[in-house]
Amino acid sequence: MTPVRIEATNGVAVLVIDNPPVNALSAAVRGAIADAIAAVAADPAIQAIALAAAGKVFVAGADISEFGKPPLPPALPEVVAAIEDSAKPVVAAINGMALGGGLELALACHARVVAPSAKLGLPEIKLGLIPGAGGTQRLPRLIGAAPAFALMLSGDPVPAQKALALGLADAIADGDLIVGAADHARALAAAGSWTKARERADKLTTEDRAAFEAVAAEALKRSARIPNVPALVDAVRGVFDKPFAEALAAERAHFKALVADPSSKALRHVFFAEREAARIPGMGKEVKARPITKAAVIGAGTMGGGIAMCFAQAGIPVTLIEVKAEALDAGMARIRGNYETSVKRGSLSQAAMDARMAHITAAVGLEAAADADIVVEAAFEDMGVKAEIFGTLDKVTRPGAILATNTSYLDVDAIAATTSRPQDVVGLHFFSPANVMRLLEVVRGAKTAPDVLVTSLDLGRKLGKLPVAVGVCYGFVGNRMLAKRTQAAERLLLAGALPHEVDAAVTDFGFRMGPFAMADLAGIDIGWRARKAAGDKAVKAPVADALAELGRFGQKTGRGFYLYPEGARAGVRDPETEALIVALSEKAGIARRSFTREEIEARLFYPMVNEGAKILEEGIAARASDIDIIWVNGYNWPAFTGGPMHWAEGVGLAKIVAGLEEMAAETGDVSLEPAALLKRLAGNAGSFAALEAA
Ligand code: 3HC
Repeated sequence: MTPVRIEATNGVAVLVIDNPPVNALSAAVRGAIADAIAAVAADPAIQAIALAAAGKVFVAGADISEFGKPPLPPALPEVVAAIEDSAKPVVAAINGMALGGGLELALACHARVVAPSAKLGLPEIKLGLIPGAGGTQRLPRLIGAAPAFALMLSGDPVPAQKALALGLADAIADGDLIVGAADHARALAAAGSWTKARERADKLTTEDRAAFEAVAAEALKRSARIPNVPALVDAVRGVFDKPFAEALAAERAHFKALVADPSSKALRHVFFAEREAARIPGMGKEVKARPITKAAVIGAGTMGGGIAMCFAQAGIPVTLIEVKAEALDAGMARIRGNYETSVKRGSLSQAAMDARMAHITAAVGLEAAADADIVVEAAFEDMGVKAEIFGTLDKVTRPGAILATNTSYLDVDAIAATTSRPQDVVGLHFFSPANVMRLLEVVRGAKTAPDVLVTSLDLGRKLGKLPVAVGVCYGFVGNRMLAKRTQAAERLLLAGALPHEVDAAVTDFGFRMGPFAMADLAGIDIGWRARKAAGDKAVKAPVADALAELGRFGQKTGRGFYLYPEGARAGVRDPETEALIVALSEKAGIARRSFTREEIEARLFYPMVNEGAKILEEGIAARASDIDIIWVNGYNWPAFTGGPMHWAEGVGLAKIVAGLEEMAAETGDVSLEPAALLKRLAGNAGSFAALEAA
């Protein structure tokens, strides 16, 4: 079956692209479009063409899974050129998302009629690319280089109304889209003239160029790491400086180079990893989610309040529960305050705020959770407290209700054991601020029922999160690996590095913040107290502990690893901290030495990769790519390196094994000895992907 069918109506051929799920432009689709254009060109009964698509999405772009493989003809630019050069006018009928190569097809059409719900965009930048089928040339010609550049730089699609205002869409269909597009095409044919985007230059004014150059200069300043922004600037500048064909060739050359660049490979890995995470190995389609129409959240602190906001945002009524009225009032006031700030900033309308507040009911006492389909406990991180809550929930909630705990470290199986229904218990580890952060670790206990897991993942997506299933262990995936980095960072201080050197290596790598600036922001006292409570399980952090003993808790006390003069947000080096570190090195009998950026990277990240490999060995994560997206979405690991496990493959697993062996010998820390899995993979496949394929 061809993925493009031709339906002829009254002199207009409607070409329908039909390649589920998202009509990606695979080689078969490209070939079929080219064939269809040629077929209708030869048909004397046809005067005009409408290019439409089946399903909800118009065309999601090039088929990303073909990137990096030997190219198959015809290339997309050839198909796009065939559309633009058609002797019969072609009008795009855009029913839903027209993205990347999908929009580039539409840009080559002689007009675009869009459904009111359609969205149009060029998201290539998010994959480390730039448009590669004429988008950087035709879009500026249609709407001006400055707005076109802004659209390509953000990668975000614009809704139909905005597309119309920009001149990207010619009309919004008020009735049947296909009929509207066909009528439009028929009218062009009747008039006997239509314009090609490539021939337009009216929007490319001197003012437009100046505006483009200004935005481009800003963008270049901000993006030092990924080569696609300079490539985009260069390609778009071509509309002013080069003949069309030459500029098009330059765009294509940039595109091909970027497809081969490690940053785009990493971003594509993240794209597919996010989608892969939705699949739970061994979970059949017959396992159905339980309906969730009402929720309850226990604990109105920052975390509980944030979780309640997630439910409200998703339109799920939620009861926020506390033991005392004062704490409840404070929690509700905090939620209201958060929303009010958003309304003031203009990111939320007053009506939307009112609707969200109306979804949140405040209540005192756990009995208020009686009719909830899911209860999320976000109380104090203490086993005794949680055991008591779950014991009560077991009695007051209805049978079949899901009982979730938002613990960061505690044993979900032990919590489940405090109830008579461990099959209904699951961990939902939100990240702070819960209403903003995308990651959700869904912790599957030993007895968690399959449908509870499926419901939790499903609910996570409804809440706008990226849910990733993990198993039970101390700190789950994210925090367990973070502990390794914390320990390694402290070791580096004792061995001779200073906080600003470690932080600089980490921000140079692409994180927004280094571990010590982060500790100062979060509060050094928090980790200090947690380490005390965790006893043997805790990592050793002698510098942080010594700072905390001195009352240096970080930003909130104006002093931590750094100094914060007069409430400054960015810390400055503090001779007192540095002297304290030197003294601790001396006390430990360590001769201090300096470290290069690469050495710091290795010492911080190799132990994390090792822990990731152990997490895989133990089955705590189903695949290496799940670990990657946990770190990219929950801990700000730079997406353009693909996450810790993907990054490790780029470094070379054999090099990491050798590095870990050295670190284990130097520190005497057996936990740094390379995991058996890491050694095995380093020895043969050299990649975690091979493990997943097995
Ligand atoms: N190529 C290959 N597969 C794609 C794809 C693409 N462009 N877009 C989506 N898919 C696949 C997904 O991997 C997923 O597969 P799975 O079911 O096996 O996991 C399936 O289609 C459904 O995708 P989603 O789960 O993402 O579905 P949603 O409904 O949530 O979202 C979407 C739909 C908004 C279209 C989203 O898929 C998306 O953003 N896709 C990518 C868009 C994009 O980046 N396009 C640019 C590509 S690069 C390009 O066009 C280069 C050109 O300039 C030459």
